[in-house]
Amino acid sequence: MEQHDPYGHVINYLGLEYNTQLTADLSSQIAYVQRTFFASDFISYAYSDPIFQAAYLMAYYPLYIDPIEDVLLTAIRPPLLLENQNSVGDKLGWKGRTNLDVSIYGGGAEPELLGLLKFIGKKYPSVKSVRSHYVDNNNWEDFRAYAYEHMVPDYWKGYFISGNTLTSNLGSIFGSASAVKLLQNSDVHVMQNCATDLMYSFQSVDQYVNFMCQFFDKIKEGSILIGIDVPLFDIPLLSNPSEIIDVRGSFNRICRYIRASPEGEVIKSPSTGAPKEIAPDIYRGHQLASNFSLKRTVKYHSFVARKIH
Ligand SMILES: C[S@@+](CC[C@H](N)C(=O)[O-])C[C@H]1O[C@@H](n2cnc3c(N)ncnc32)[C@H](O)[C@@H]1O
Repeated sequence: MEQHDPYGHVINYLGLEYNTQLTADLSSQIAYVQRTFFASDFISYAYSDPIFQAAYLMAYYPLYIDPIEDVLLTAIRPPLLLENQNSVGDKLGWKGRTNLDVSIYGGGAEPELLGLLKFIGKKYPSVKSVRSHYVDNNNWEDFRAYAYEHMVPDYWKGYFISGNTLTSNLGSIFGSASAVKLLQNSDVHVMQNCATDLMYSFQSVDQYVNFMCQFFDKIKEGSILIGIDVPLFDIPLLSNPSEIIDVRGSFNRICRYIRASPEGEVIKSPSTGAPKEIAPDIYRGHQLASNFSLKRTVKYHSFVARKIH
């Protein structure tokens, strides 16, 4: 089976082999990042701090490449009854497409870009070029440049175009002409692991759900919206404890809105019951990585929706 080596790339990018001090500093940061991410301790999120970014890259980047591929494979799978009838259909509407415009929101280091490209390569070989845009309010440019040059070619053999980068708060994108252009022109919109950040910046779960519904209203006909997030639930929003974080509940509310809209179709509903667990098939034989106590699986909730006529 094909294996990729994201840990090797992160180690190489960080120069860990030549930096014993960073390796020592990272041990405690990684433990801290792994703890706080699941406790939703937003006050400690320091995305612009290089040590925090390094810890995120090592702890989570490799694990968050594959979920989007898994989600999309589930989304396009035919219903059980039709499985033997070659009736895969065209749920994403990409059959015969030769190019796609992708926008990644709250993208951070953008592991989801690699998984999306892998999926496109496997299932839509007619797509020869992908242009990818990016919105985030923190700066991950150095790592993104590294990933575009060294990792993208490992995951997809097509022609990759680095599109627009908007350093912008997602909360204000509807007022930004360049962001609205992305909403109106992209074929795929991805929001992975930024739901709870948005609940925090809006200080409100309801406002996050409203934001996503408005977002769906503004995207172009035929385009796809993908939401993937850590399955936090029953956690009071620290800044506003009367609001309780519930990722699956929020995804369900967004999907209810989309289903009720004459222009909406939910292709993959938020999973019911336990969140999906995935163990990415990646190479792990690095001595340096084994110094850290790294998670091996991730759990998430997800939905996929399409804007129709
Ligand atoms: C947990 S990271 C997820 C990154 C990436 N999507 C992944 O799955 O690894 C959340 C990202 O969302 C960004 N973010 C958080 N709140 C934001 C906001 N209000 N506007 C724009 N970006 C935001 C952060 O800077 C960070 O890069």
